[in-house]
Amino acid sequence: MMRPDLTMQARKRYVAFAIFFSFINHVTASVTHYSIPEEMKEGSVIANLATDLSLDVKTLNQRKMRLDLIANNKYLDVNKETGELYVVEKIDREYLCTKTLTLCYLKMEVILENPLRIFNIELEILDMNDNAPQFRRDAIHLDISEATSKGERFSLSNAVDPDVGSNSVKTYHLSESEHFTIEVQTGRDGSKFADLILKKTLDREQQAVHNLILTAVDGGTPARSGTASVIVHVSDTNDNAPTFEKLNYSVEIMENSPIGSLVVHLNATDLDEGSNSDVTYSYSLYTSEKTQETFNLNPSTGEITVKGMLNYEDFRIYDMEVIATDKGANSLSGQCTIQILVEDMNDNHPELSIKSFQSPVNENIELDTVIAVVSVSDKDSGNNGVVDLHIPDNMPFKLRESSDNYYELVVSEPLDREKVPEYDITFTVTDRGSPPLSDNETMTLELLDVNDNVPQFPQSFYTIRVMENNAPGALLSSLTAFDPDLHENQYLVYFILEKEIANTSMSMLFSINPENGNLYALKTFDYEIEKEFLFHIEARDSGSPPLSSNVTVHIIIVDQNDNAPVIVSPSDCCSGEGTFPYFSFFLPS
Ligand SMILES: *[C@@H]1O[C@H](CO)[C@@H](O)[C@H](O)[C@H]1NC(C)=O
Ligand SMILES: *[C@@H]1O[C@H](CO)[C@@H](O)[C@H](O)[C@H]1NC(C)=O
Ligand SMILES: *[C@@H]1O[C@H](CO)[C@@H](O)[C@H](O)[C@H]1NC(C)=O
Ligand SMILES: *[C@@H]1O[C@H](CO)[C@@H](O)[C@H](O)[C@H]1NC(C)=O
Ligand SMILES: *[C@@H]1O[C@H](CO)[C@@H](O)[C@H](O)[C@H]1NC(C)=O
Repeated sequence: MMRPDLTMQARKRYVAFAIFFSFINHVTASVTHYSIPEEMKEGSVIANLATDLSLDVKTLNQRKMRLDLIANNKYLDVNKETGELYVVEKIDREYLCTKTLTLCYLKMEVILENPLRIFNIELEILDMNDNAPQFRRDAIHLDISEATSKGERFSLSNAVDPDVGSNSVKTYHLSESEHFTIEVQTGRDGSKFADLILKKTLDREQQAVHNLILTAVDGGTPARSGTASVIVHVSDTNDNAPTFEKLNYSVEIMENSPIGSLVVHLNATDLDEGSNSDVTYSYSLYTSEKTQETFNLNPSTGEITVKGMLNYEDFRIYDMEVIATDKGANSLSGQCTIQILVEDMNDNHPELSIKSFQSPVNENIELDTVIAVVSVSDKDSGNNGVVDLHIPDNMPFKLRESSDNYYELVVSEPLDREKVPEYDITFTVTDRGSPPLSDNETMTLELLDVNDNVPQFPQSFYTIRVMENNAPGALLSSLTAFDPDLHENQYLVYFILEKEIANTSMSMLFSINPENGNLYALKTFDYEIEKEFLFHIEARDSGSPPLSSNVTVHIIIVDQNDNAPVIVSPSDCCSGEGTFPYFSFFLPS
């Protein structure tokens, strides 16, 4: 349809042309020819038939002038008063002649009676560009693989324009595109269509859909156009390998992590779609059997979990290589390495081992003498494996580190078996983990006796009073000494120290039981003859060398009234049987 503002101007020109043309026709042929543009408004005058056919306008009515349209349609009529041919109904060329390039005519006869005259009239309907090109569908969908090489063509459905000649589709335009262009082709029937041409290869991962606008333009003036969207769906090919977020992973995990603990969740992504991006995970050949036995790799999720016990002390670094493979036809794969570092837990008790221990030792052992060698160890690492060795305080020993993890127990103070005969020494080894773990071992150090104590008498001086006339063999006293040493060092022997005075041996007068120190008188004393004795008794142990001590024993003979007074002559004195103590006194009763 024509736009209203154009109509009057354009129509006048066509009409003028038509009249001029018809004069020529009228002279040369019996068919009168007119040309009008299609779509003229109802009532528009096309020509004055009276004038053109040289008829008297006054007689037209009387002669019953009429118009006979061969194709029936009542498009036109003639005014019997004026002879004007005018439009009754709009003429659509495309409707009248359908789509054809040949000329479109409306043929009719003008009939007059009295006398009968018939004039043939041909009315050519000229095409107006009243139709825009139109695509059959608003959207053209194309699936193009990203593997398609450049230069490939794809035919696009053409646009149709019911107008003819230059008013029909003349060319096509494609919206700006990096990847596509079009080439306009002319069909055998002269129709125009466009081929879509790939000028740059596609990458679905970059752009999966390309939205293009195809415009068909006709050759009318002004040109009219119609558009269709061309939607190119780029179909995937497996052109991307799965990739991991990182090439190398380093993961730390505590030893003794329970079975099933998640170590790392690998995630390889594949830019392709569908099965081309479905990834399965597997260990590469590089990954050792041991590693594969210790860690489980879920082939579909990429989760690595603990499968076997982790023990830092056995194995602390696991290296693995994981391959992600997609499920595309020509599957592609990517890989990454994972290093799993097992972290130490303070799970090992420190250990101590007594390498040597001397027991018993002599109590007089020298200071700084090594009693024991102890080694310590802890399989943990870091502070968990640093150990300290202790012994209880207040012991006459100290620990001295001799070399790495070896300690010597040495004597730090003099020992005395008589005070402490043995020591229970508890070695405690403690690590510095948190919480710390410890171990202990107790050793008993026995001290051997050394004859380092002299026998001790309770008193240093004994005064023993003995009644004269005592029975021979009477027990006078028991002089026991004490020796804190042991065994033979304690085993005492008592004897009277001979003090020879005036050639008299005390052992003639007294006797001491060497085993228990019981002192006996060997004879009956007579106060009138001897009044006191002074001698020493020694106690001697059986050590080697023996130690001894002595005490002074003072025997006092106590007088009894056993004598009648007598006169004694001096000759009686120093004769007679036996000997008399040197220090015997004769006192007058
Ligand atoms: C990743 O590990 C490989 C060997 O497994 C090594 O060649 C590469 O240098 C590592 N890359 C990085 C970034 O550490
Ligand atoms: C893997 O990574 C992609 C992209 O970063 C993300 O969309 C996806 O959810 C991740 N998958 C898992 C299981 O974490
Ligand atoms: C020695 O270890 C035992 C357990 O092995 C513990 O009961 C004891 O208390 C420890 N002794 C010391 C002195 O640490
Ligand atoms: C002591 O007596 C002995 C004999 O019993 C004698 O041989 C000795 O000479 C005497 N000694 C003195 C100092 O009298
Ligand atoms: C008796 O002991 C003292 C020391 O206590 C000593 O000096 C003296 O020599 C000893 N006497 C004898 C006869 O051994």
